[in-house]
Amino acid sequence: MRPINVFEYEALAQERLHPAVWDYYSDGANDTVTLRENRAAFERIRLRPRVLVDVTSIDMATTLLGSPVAMPICIAPSAIHGAACEDGECATARAAGALGTLMAASTESTRTMEEIAQAATGPLWFQLYFSSHTRAHAERLIRRAEVAGYRAIALTVDSSRWGQKERHARSDATFDWPLTGNFIRDPLPSAIDGAADGAAITWNDVDWLRSITSLPLVLKGILTAEDASLCAERGIDGVLVSNHGGRQLDTVAATIDALPEVAEAVAGRCEVYLDGGVRRGTDVLKALALGARAVFVGRAVLWGLSVAGAEGAQHVLELLRDELATAMALAGRPTLASIDGSVVQRPLRR
Ligand SMILES: Cc1cc2nc3c(=O)[nH]c(=O)nc-3n(C[C@H](O)[C@H](O)[C@H](O)COP(=O)(O)O)c2cc1C
Repeated sequence: MRPINVFEYEALAQERLHPAVWDYYSDGANDTVTLRENRAAFERIRLRPRVLVDVTSIDMATTLLGSPVAMPICIAPSAIHGAACEDGECATARAAGALGTLMAASTESTRTMEEIAQAATGPLWFQLYFSSHTRAHAERLIRRAEVAGYRAIALTVDSSRWGQKERHARSDATFDWPLTGNFIRDPLPSAIDGAADGAAITWNDVDWLRSITSLPLVLKGILTAEDASLCAERGIDGVLVSNHGGRQLDTVAATIDALPEVAEAVAGRCEVYLDGGVRRGTDVLKALALGARAVFVGRAVLWGLSVAGAEGAQHVLELLRDELATAMALAGRPTLASIDGSVVQRPLRR
């Protein structure tokens, strides 16, 4: 039977994946407090529906840094889709294209960024990991992204070291992981592990990045008003409120709880997005209500990919889109412009 929601895809993915791949995809850092909190916080929020509104037509099309998308649900960058299905990120890109939405491709994709761009029909962002030691390498990746038609660089800023994913650490060596496609042409200097090589980036590196490319710059992994203000002051184009799906610093807040302070601090000076725990159309509605322009989904897409390749990833996106349409209709908010803070009950924090 075809799955009818993301959770059914998750259960099927667990059955089908090699245990080490399941552990890598599903795990969170340490006690997985934040991993669980990302979901729990969405579930705590109550909606305030308006009735007797004309919801005959639901319009969820928008733009992200100028690129049109058919819905405010995009694909978060995640590593090694080649462990989920043969075509890896090319399958994911086809799924995003089928839904008219945007995919952010990870530095650590199995397929190269050029192959992904070939498969894509929707807009692409390139997610970048680098360290102060690997600026030259990062610059080569950015030049390739520019040539391949990527529309923005999403710099991940929450990974000065890798969070400790303990289930993953136990089973990691039992699987023969595919290579990082982008590093075949541009190998990392030996003994350096991308972001987490002990030379973590600082605002100086962000300024350097800003100076070497004219592509819009998104910082991924912002969780506080303080850092959001710095982003806006430094001319960053977008901030992605993210705790890396609970995989980095355990016990940080759920992203939906961090979103209001970030949106308030930014005050419209750049675009704001959210990822982390999005599994339902109502989650998307809540994020839009609290200040996100769009959400990104990580694991939900990996589950679809693991179960049925591009078709599965596409179906997951369709399920989320259809659930969002239902939620918008039942909440009496048929357009994105009609979704504001009055959609959710306050106070949010207990
Ligand atoms: C298996 C896996 C690999 C990931 N790899 C990356 C990555 O390469 N770069 C990055 O910026 N974020 C990465 N992330 C974090 C996602 O971009 C995103 O923040 C997170 O998955 C959102 O939470 P969700 O999985 O609950 O939707 C990864 C997440 C997962 C689950």
